[in-house]
Amino acid sequence: MRSTPSSTRSANTVSSTNAERAARSSPRTHGYTRPGRLALLDAVLLHCECTLIAQAGPAVFVDVGVGEWPWTTLETAERLRSVNPALHVVGVEVDPDRLRHAKRLGGTRVDFRLGGFELPLGAHEPARLVRAMNVLREYDEARAALAHQQLTAALVPGGLLVEGSSSRAGGVACAHLIRKRERGAEREALVFVTDFSQGFSPWLFRDRLPRDLRRRSRGGSALHAFFYAWDEAFRAARSTSLREPSALFALTALALARRTPGIVLDPQLVERGVLLWRPPGGVPSAPVPAHER
Ligand SMILES: C[S@@+](CC[C@H](N)C(=O)[O-])C[C@H]1O[C@@H](n2cnc3c(N)ncnc32)[C@H](O)[C@@H]1O
Repeated sequence: MRSTPSSTRSANTVSSTNAERAARSSPRTHGYTRPGRLALLDAVLLHCECTLIAQAGPAVFVDVGVGEWPWTTLETAERLRSVNPALHVVGVEVDPDRLRHAKRLGGTRVDFRLGGFELPLGAHEPARLVRAMNVLREYDEARAALAHQQLTAALVPGGLLVEGSSSRAGGVACAHLIRKRERGAEREALVFVTDFSQGFSPWLFRDRLPRDLRRRSRGGSALHAFFYAWDEAFRAARSTSLREPSALFALTALALARRTPGIVLDPQLVERGVLLWRPPGGVPSAPVPAHER
């Protein structure tokens, strides 16, 4: 659970305590990043969440797991500020050496802080958007639910957590969109994005699923049924004369939407290699089997 910083303590005091704990429980503080890696996801956020980002009033975007170099945090800060110049951006990193790099390169553009999933935010820092990309992949599957709880704790109602994984260069990515509601956090959608640099097949995304879903896409799960339907739609599309990956992607999305509720057929998304799935009952989750806990 996130500890609520008391108004008499500064966010930094709270963060160093939590950060020490986070650093001890963090399985790895290395991992790869590169410029442009999260550009596709940024474009989805700007398209789908523009109102949330641009809303007037105090607002914080928190990027958790900045990485060895802060490229993706700085890039996203710039993109989001194109619609909300007043957006306060906090980059959270558990590794003190990486934090030093980030502070050196980021200057005053981003407020980099030491911390973990218990976000080092003060009581008067309303997080509108929290992102944790390519962070949970290093953790046990069973840790994901608690991390989601911690990461959504600081969100304002209507705020959004984006958590998932991408390929090294970012050409294939998949993320949870988890929305904070008055009654709690809702697993609202899964977003799949590709730039077609690896062609297209639904199975490309399986290795990029968020940590808690990676094994759930196998035999018998709701997620497996989703991939199975997506694959059937893909094979039907391939039986036509279409070969261009983006055209196959679009035709497949249309066919999938006919049999799977919650597929968002926004042409501006589909044309850019984005499949957004908002299952009516929320993104399926299954309890972690006892032997895996
Ligand atoms: C693979 S990098 C991801 C960088 C960037 N977000 C990206 O997607 O390219 C993961 C980073 O998360 C950091 N990290 C791991 N656990 C963390 C935690 N609990 N809180 C904050 N940062 C964490 C690691 O130290 C590492 O720098």
